Amino acid sequence: MNPPADEPANGRAELRVDGPRLWRRIVELGEIGAIIGADGAHGCSRLALTDADRDGRDLVVGWMHDLGLVVAVDAIGNVIATRPGTDPTAPTVMTGSHIDTVVSGGRFDGNLGVLAGLEVVETLEQHGVQTAHPISVAFFTDEEGARFAPDMLGSLVFAGGLPLEEALDIVAVDDAARLGDELDRIGYLGALPCPTASAPHAYVELHIEQGPILEEEGITIGVVEGVQGISWTEVSIAGRSAHAGTTPLRLRRDAAYVAAEITTFVRRLAIEIGGSQVATVGRLDLRPDLVNVVAGSATLTVDLRNTDDAELGRAEAALSAEIDRLAGAEGVIATTRSLARYAPVDFDPSTVDLVEATARRLGHSTRRISSGAGHDAQMLARICPAAMIFTPSVAGLSHNIAEHTHPADVTAGADVLLQTLLSLAG
Ligand code: GLV
Ligand code: MN
Ligand code: MN
Repeated sequence: MNPPADEPANGRAELRVDGPRLWRRIVELGEIGAIIGADGAHGCSRLALTDADRDGRDLVVGWMHDLGLVVAVDAIGNVIATRPGTDPTAPTVMTGSHIDTVVSGGRFDGNLGVLAGLEVVETLEQHGVQTAHPISVAFFTDEEGARFAPDMLGSLVFAGGLPLEEALDIVAVDDAARLGDELDRIGYLGALPCPTASAPHAYVELHIEQGPILEEEGITIGVVEGVQGISWTEVSIAGRSAHAGTTPLRLRRDAAYVAAEITTFVRRLAIEIGGSQVATVGRLDLRPDLVNVVAGSATLTVDLRNTDDAELGRAEAALSAEIDRLAGAEGVIATTRSLARYAPVDFDPSTVDLVEATARRLGHSTRRISSGAGHDAQMLARICPAAMIFTPSVAGLSHNIAEHTHPADVTAGADVLLQTLLSLAG
């Protein structure tokens, strides 16, 4: 049983993080792979297992050592830093997230959760607070899935959802590099066995909302009840390249046309299904990619998400039927490959309640919310009680260099994380 949030043990209820110290780390980590927009927006580009990811990892691992944590790297490159507890038999209470970003990402997505975890540890150190359970701060490999699909890859392997050898053999979408080779190249092919042999006592992750709801409603803390289902499909279309001026429409096998039809179809499909259904074509590659040549081939990705797994299945079936119909009508060959498929996840009700009660005790406005984005917490939920804390995203923007969360909200989220972890760690 978790201690009730309004009766914390040992009078530790007044402990608060040092917000400016956490902010300084966010800014410093954000310098690695920094992208500065024309309007002064400060984003980040640290695709998984690139040199920039390695540099970010090295900086965070340095901070982990500075805090006296026991740092371990596992066989998929997840980094787990642990502050021992007073009970040598107690399983760890884990927090964390990821520090890889999409190629045009922000400084907060993932990074906030990891650095807030370090801030919690530093606060405990500074005030000499011991916990019965150890507290671990982890960052998981390739959460974004932007370079190596699927997303949440490191935490998926950690939780036993994908065999390690299979994961190490995944190749990158951009340069066909093998994941295991890239891990080795950047020095993060670790010795700790993965999947983990010791499930955490609990896992709580702080993350930015990445959507508009909290800001629009003026709420400081989102109490995350679960994560919607995710389906990623890569569609490859083989048509025939031809002269753009001389080839009559009736003789074309136009891969670009079929790709464009799929793109507009998924938008109409999302509108028709309604509810939480969203649909995105985020990657579209045409070959030979020339102004006066009918495209001979196209590769595109379709990202479908829904909180209801049956509705998500309906969207997948409709997409598949439409691809077949379009391919037949245009005389192209379309093949599909699943890149990721995750069912919706519900977080542990008592840990969710604890987050909510803790946020309210600290005087913050709260709202129950479902996550539109995927998170490492949904993988940890397979092996231990898990929950998440959301902070507002300015203008609901994320996966955009203008991604921002106000310092006061960062501090509020980290305080809720601190007090929730204290309740769990005893
Ligand atoms: C992963 O972070 C996703 O939601 O795409
Ligand atoms: Mn994230
Ligand atoms: Mn992301």
